[in-house]
Amino acid sequence: MTKLFTSLFLLLGLLSIKAQTLQSPDKNLSMTFSLTDNGTPVYTLSYKNKSVIKTSKLGIETTDIASFTEGFSVKDAATRSFNETWQPVWGEQKNIRNNYNELAVTIEQKSIENRFIVIRFRLFNDGLGFRYEFPAESKLNYFIIKEEKTQFALAGDHKAFWLPGDFDTQEYSTVTSKLSEVRGKMKDAVTPNASQQTFSPTGLQTPLMLKSDNGLYINIHEAALVDYSCLNLELDDKNMVLNAFLTPDAVGNKGYMQAPTQTPWRTVVVSDDARDILASKLILNLNEPTKYEDVSWIKPVKYIGVWWELITGKSSWAYTDVPSVKLGETDYTKMERNPKHAANTDHVKKHIDFAAEHGFDAVLVEGWNEGWEDWFGKSKDFVFDFVTPYPDFDVKALHDYAASKNVKMMMHHETSGSVRNYERHMDQAYQFMVDNGYNSVKSGYVGDIIPRGEYHNGQWMNDHYLYAIKKAAEYKIMVNAHEAVRPTGLSRTYPNLIGNESARGTEYEAFGGNNADHTTILPFTRLMGGPMDYTPGIFQTQINKYNPDNNSFVHTTLAKQLALYVTMYSPLQMAADLPETYNKHLDAFQFIKDVAIDWDESYILEAEPGDYITIARKAKGKNEWFVGGITDENKRTATVDFSFLPKGKTFEAVIYGDGKDADYITNPQSYEIKKMKVTSKTKLKQPMATSGGFAISVK
Ligand code: NOJ
Ligand code: CA
Repeated sequence: MTKLFTSLFLLLGLLSIKAQTLQSPDKNLSMTFSLTDNGTPVYTLSYKNKSVIKTSKLGIETTDIASFTEGFSVKDAATRSFNETWQPVWGEQKNIRNNYNELAVTIEQKSIENRFIVIRFRLFNDGLGFRYEFPAESKLNYFIIKEEKTQFALAGDHKAFWLPGDFDTQEYSTVTSKLSEVRGKMKDAVTPNASQQTFSPTGLQTPLMLKSDNGLYINIHEAALVDYSCLNLELDDKNMVLNAFLTPDAVGNKGYMQAPTQTPWRTVVVSDDARDILASKLILNLNEPTKYEDVSWIKPVKYIGVWWELITGKSSWAYTDVPSVKLGETDYTKMERNPKHAANTDHVKKHIDFAAEHGFDAVLVEGWNEGWEDWFGKSKDFVFDFVTPYPDFDVKALHDYAASKNVKMMMHHETSGSVRNYERHMDQAYQFMVDNGYNSVKSGYVGDIIPRGEYHNGQWMNDHYLYAIKKAAEYKIMVNAHEAVRPTGLSRTYPNLIGNESARGTEYEAFGGNNADHTTILPFTRLMGGPMDYTPGIFQTQINKYNPDNNSFVHTTLAKQLALYVTMYSPLQMAADLPETYNKHLDAFQFIKDVAIDWDESYILEAEPGDYITIARKAKGKNEWFVGGITDENKRTATVDFSFLPKGKTFEAVIYGDGKDADYITNPQSYEIKKMKVTSKTKLKQPMATSGGFAISVK
């Protein structure tokens, strides 16, 4: 009897709290918002009547004032619809549609006078975004976050494409497993890195890509990470609930807030077709339009560099072999030069010649400035000043030489994690760039952060990365930051952020190798938030041809390296191999020279995370199309349906494919170049070798 009464009471209790519901413009997605009987906010999400997110809690726990977790009642619920088309400064397509239905619920904690927050939901055809807002009118001022209590309760034990949750790095290989297997696979997944801090045996990173047994593709990430800590997830593997786990600071706090303010958006992109995940622009749409009035100085960049020879160990960053130097005190002119020092004037001039001859925009040079002798692993504060070149690097002469050949120099600022030191020098460093004709910088944050105890992904560092981007904009400088927090679509607002690394790049092919399926996953994970400086184009796949002591090999065929220029979207693309190698394969190199880096349209033709991707894109403002297709360790035949071409016309296509005998381990350099006529009716069956691929240009 008592039992019956309690159940009845509970049922009535639930019914009495009316759920707010919202549908996507196409009605495929639907969500609910409600409060539990103790006033905890909860939400659900479904796609074509399949559950995506089961009842999941929302809230924020604080250290200093009453938490925003329970005791809420609904004060107001407002809905609206939005539909606009906007043009990015650079991108995968010329026009981006931003179309959503919005629900903004104002919830108040009656026990505290005038204390309310807003939870804003935006439901698009491709997913959900929501965030917490702390309005000015609410009786709130400063507060400190202990933990964000956002949950994503999943409907099953999905297949996951995951990286170990880490406060410092994303440079791990992706593990593909059931969520229930994460705990058992965590130890092996955590491979060594120059700076890393895992936090839980079930800790995961975002973007997290999931696939359910009933055919849903689900991607969880965040948009517009500004003045807040990076979101990680901790999996409750009994209940298949992902709990937010923010990156702490040096004293363990997770966020310092001052109202009016808001959190980043939490995003769930969902579809029953994997191609829609890659086509989604939801994360960009949740970011603010650009803040810059003049964007004419921001341009996509195709570049080469004095770089791969350093990564492979063929040459050296450091000018000398001494074990230690002191900034401003060491007199390099009195020291013995290491003949392997790559950043020397003559060598760089040859790169400028090569760039000019083949139509590249810029040349990156690393190891040009004093301090590289002991930059790594020393936790050294005053490590570089970013303006003092080594004696064999003539900044002025190189500037003049590059300018005479219409090539830009790309600056390199390795901070070695000493961020306070970088900020000390930033204005001078950017001014030095302007004075010497550099308009883009590759920055880097290798090693543990100084101030010590801060993490790469905490609020303090996120503030730094954005400070560096905004400050660079004052000098009309474009930024490509390595080892920074992974992107969250901020390049819509700050389009001079033209690239990030923030994942395992091609450099790892020289550090033991990337998995054969690596680049079939990255577009579904890391690239969801923004472009990656992946640095493809390695034709010499045996690293010991450059450095006899390095037995790594590139885990792809040569043709797959070409395909990456299309499948790994970025407005910043490097031809990463050495000029001497490209000179031996000028026929294949032609594709890298031709391929566009800015687009009117993109067509995701085929895609399955971890298996294959085929993408076609139309070059911006030109009647030229480029196609890239890649596969994992399995051979496969791609189908290229050319129906994206204008009807009734015949075009010439050049196909750069794997040779018949190509294999990424035994015969990676075997490729075949063919020409054929194509129309919008052509359907090409293109075979791909193990970890192979193909690239096509159409004119
Ligand atoms: C790591 C970067 O990813 C790499 O590109 C760079 O060459 C080194 N750090 C040195 O800064
Ligand atoms: Ca790196």
